[in-house]
Amino acid sequence: MPTALITGVTGQDGSYLAELLLQQGYRVVGMVRRTSTLNFHRIAHIQEQLELVPGDLSDQVSLIHILEEYQPEEVYNLAAQSFVQTSWNQPVFTGDVTALGVTRVLDAIRIVNPRIRMYQASSSEMFGKVVEVPQKETTPFYPRSPYGVAKVYGHWITINYRESYNLHASSGILFNHESPRRGLEFVTRKISHQAAKIKLGLANELRLGNLDARRDWGFAGDYVRAMWLMLQRDTPDDYVVATGETHSVEQFLDVAFEHLDLDWREYVVQDERFMRPAEVDLLVGDPSKAGRDLGWEPTVSFAELVRMMVDADLQLLRDGAIAV
Ligand code: NAP
Ligand code: GDD
Repeated sequence: MPTALITGVTGQDGSYLAELLLQQGYRVVGMVRRTSTLNFHRIAHIQEQLELVPGDLSDQVSLIHILEEYQPEEVYNLAAQSFVQTSWNQPVFTGDVTALGVTRVLDAIRIVNPRIRMYQASSSEMFGKVVEVPQKETTPFYPRSPYGVAKVYGHWITINYRESYNLHASSGILFNHESPRRGLEFVTRKISHQAAKIKLGLANELRLGNLDARRDWGFAGDYVRAMWLMLQRDTPDDYVVATGETHSVEQFLDVAFEHLDLDWREYVVQDERFMRPAEVDLLVGDPSKAGRDLGWEPTVSFAELVRMMVDADLQLLRDGAIAV
């Protein structure tokens, strides 16, 4: 039975990837950081099947010890300070975890066992103020946030360790991917959750920032499959993972509120607090390399994704569960 280590196992992607790897027969080790209250809600349903181990991307020693103790064949580095807006408030912390944290993982692999295969969670946010449409693996980066800058570092240090030490390290340049497990601070889940609340009479407004921003939104369950496929290849490489379609925040609102027989214009209030110092206006990826080499393609359409999220939030609220 192969062993995989997932950093960021308590996050959206970590939970879907853990499910996938368990289905594939892996022993799955999840690195979790110490928090004052438990935050295992996304993995509660599979927690018994996982081995959870304390560690932190800012602590090199913890990473080396985990690799020595569990001897994984594959490491998926999903941990990061992943919220773009917060990266302006905490730029140094974001750089330490999201950028330097990648070096710590790579160096732990180099020291403990350079045959370990590694996946790095790169991001379409690296394209920022895009210089080419659609964006592909060769499109130059122009990051627009401390988070985007940190991800560019993580991307290049992964390539550098691959070339310097011959590591089997691959980066997935993933475009935005969402699900009912998305954090409430991200725009898609903020909309689906608040729209469901409005429908049930639990709220009467939705405060948002820029409605014109366009993103290439896919389903997280599809995207973790691409991560796994990358590590099954003989040769490590970098891949754009995207749907190839772009939609605005306004279009997301259209589908979400229409699904509830509501008109978002009656509820949405634009609020300066949610505007960014520098915006990424348009993202749309070209996933043809992933299609060709990995046989990967998305299975959930934009409208299906929006409705899935709205339905899940309606159900959550009807069940009286606390949204997280
Ligand atoms: P997420 O839900 O925010 O999860 C982030 C995970 O990182 C959480 O498990 C978090 O742990 C963990 N973490 C944060 N700081 C850490 C530290 N110092 N040490 C160890 N763990 C730490 O993010 P996601 O949406 O699943 O994304 C997964 C990865 O893909 C991230 O690297 C993100 O930047 C990248 N990415 C995401 C997207 C997307 O659209 N979702 C697109 C491109 C790239 P806690 O639960 O303790 O906070
Ligand atoms: N969060 C948020 N909240 N975003 C808003 C709001 C709001 O109230 N109103 C408008 N937006 C706009 C943002 O300005 C941005 O243009 C867009 O909605 C998407 O914002 P997020 O959902 O926060 O995601 P993101 O694109 O900044 O970052 C996500 O995707 C990246 C990949 O491109 C994160 O998952 C990153 O970790 C990931 O790398």
